[in-house]
Amino acid sequence: MSAAAGCLHQSCPVLAILRTAAIFGVEAYPVSVEVDVSDGGLPAITMVGLPDASVRESRDRVQSAIRNSGFEFPRRHVTVNLSPADIRKVGSSFDLPIALGVLAATGLIPTRQIDDVVILGELSLDGAVRSVRGALPISARARRDGVGCVILPRANAGEAAIVTGIDVVPVTSLEETVAILTGRRPRPTSPEPLPAAACAVALDLSDVRGQAIARRAIEIAAGGGHNLLFVGPPGGGKSMMARRLPGILPPLTFEEALEVTAIHSVAGLLPAGAGLLTAPPFRAPHHTASDVALVGGGAVPRPGEITLAHNGVLLLDETAEFARHVLDGLRQPLEEGTIRIARAARTAVFPARFMLVATMNPCPCGYRGDPSRACRCTPQQIDRYRGRLSGPLRDRIDLSVSVPAVPFKTLIEAASGESSAFVRQRVAAARERQVARSRSAGERLNARLDERALARHCVLDPAGLRVLDAASRRFHLSARSCHRLMKVARTIADLAGAERIAVEHMAEAVQFRLEG
Ligand SMILES: Nc1ncnc2c1ncn2[C@@H]1O[C@H](COP(=O)(O)OP(=O)(O)O)[C@@H](O)[C@H]1O
Ligand SMILES: [Mg+2]
Repeated sequence: MSAAAGCLHQSCPVLAILRTAAIFGVEAYPVSVEVDVSDGGLPAITMVGLPDASVRESRDRVQSAIRNSGFEFPRRHVTVNLSPADIRKVGSSFDLPIALGVLAATGLIPTRQIDDVVILGELSLDGAVRSVRGALPISARARRDGVGCVILPRANAGEAAIVTGIDVVPVTSLEETVAILTGRRPRPTSPEPLPAAACAVALDLSDVRGQAIARRAIEIAAGGGHNLLFVGPPGGGKSMMARRLPGILPPLTFEEALEVTAIHSVAGLLPAGAGLLTAPPFRAPHHTASDVALVGGGAVPRPGEITLAHNGVLLLDETAEFARHVLDGLRQPLEEGTIRIARAARTAVFPARFMLVATMNPCPCGYRGDPSRACRCTPQQIDRYRGRLSGPLRDRIDLSVSVPAVPFKTLIEAASGESSAFVRQRVAAARERQVARSRSAGERLNARLDERALARHCVLDPAGLRVLDAASRRFHLSARSCHRLMKVARTIADLAGAERIAVEHMAEAVQFRLEG
């Protein structure tokens, strides 16, 4: 792709073209950096191609880095074009390709050396190459585009090396990069991919005393990827149990882990030295979170909490305290598993397929239905409070559980329950049944079955149908709610290792619909 037009004589105008990449949403797009050095005009750098303020700052860094690395910055007019122009360019990762472009345009680097290479890196004023965001999705994209090599900051190299089939060249300074490209220094070998990130020590279910029904609900939710709501008085252990859900989920598959790691790489949230993230993500935004923080957005679209929770769990603790319009923003992603953020030039589509766990008190004071304390709320207050979790959102919650406070005596005396590791084995076995059953490569977890898969896999016998029919009449359930109940029953059958949904599976599913 790169070419040099004209001769290499100092006074001739020369054009250098290099490959780099930009992130839009959570995806990488190829960008070419074109550097033209000409005698016309005053000595200066002009940047075109929709660079934002952060990229325009690159001018100063590039000039200083070139001079401080022992090279000469041309005393001529330098024009840098980043194309395509319809993606807004942000961040500092264009520094290194721009600097190399300037040196290539002045004839210092042979252009064939930068032909088949994607280059990215931030420069500090002394010429050191600093880490950037998005190295993983960028190298994955480069490999898909058939590029042979990616040159990037050493700090990001292990992350990029997770992608196989492309040479990863780690660099630490501009001077070193030029030495490698001009053959004065051997190309460093591709680094080892970082080992999978160690899973943080998860909170264990065995800490929870009593609460058999709530524990069962967590297991079912995990088994089929269902959304879950805990309702109960303060101190009842709702948050405690919700935080233990990720610990009973099986590790991510390689494909899921790549998606999750790429998202965290773009968001700049990959822990230093972390490789592939193999544990399902867990996000618990505070109830003061804005809609942009939750679903993503901004002038340059950035992923929100629901995208960071992709393939994992989103906990909305004290759900009723979230602003109504913030919660309403969850409807579409809960249904579709993605969020679209429209911008003038392009629409960013972020993945957002997560399990929702919500907790709330039964009323504003929190003690409605509590045998030990009187509730002081008026019926209107209670209605208003519950209305904050609007109907359409409630409809998408498969399991609702009331969580009464456990008496102090039980807390002290009850034996500790099963550990997370134990429950996780049953969850994994239930999920394996779902994967084995689904023939398509699409959604496999019961919670996400489409209409056709529902008709095929969630067949009820006459007794099961009667249970569902009675529940739907008595509680005026929508068709969506009935389908969701059948999916929960399917998961309960999978946990039991049963081929068909039996009446007791359906009955238990109905129980969890009505509990909360
Ligand atoms: N069933 C339980 N088993 C063990 N500890 C519990 C239980 N229920 C509550 N606790 C204790 O009470 C604390 C408060 O619980 P929390 O989850 O914050 O309640 P909630 O979110 O319902 O207000 C927990 O951190 C835990 O120490
Ligand atoms: Mg709580």
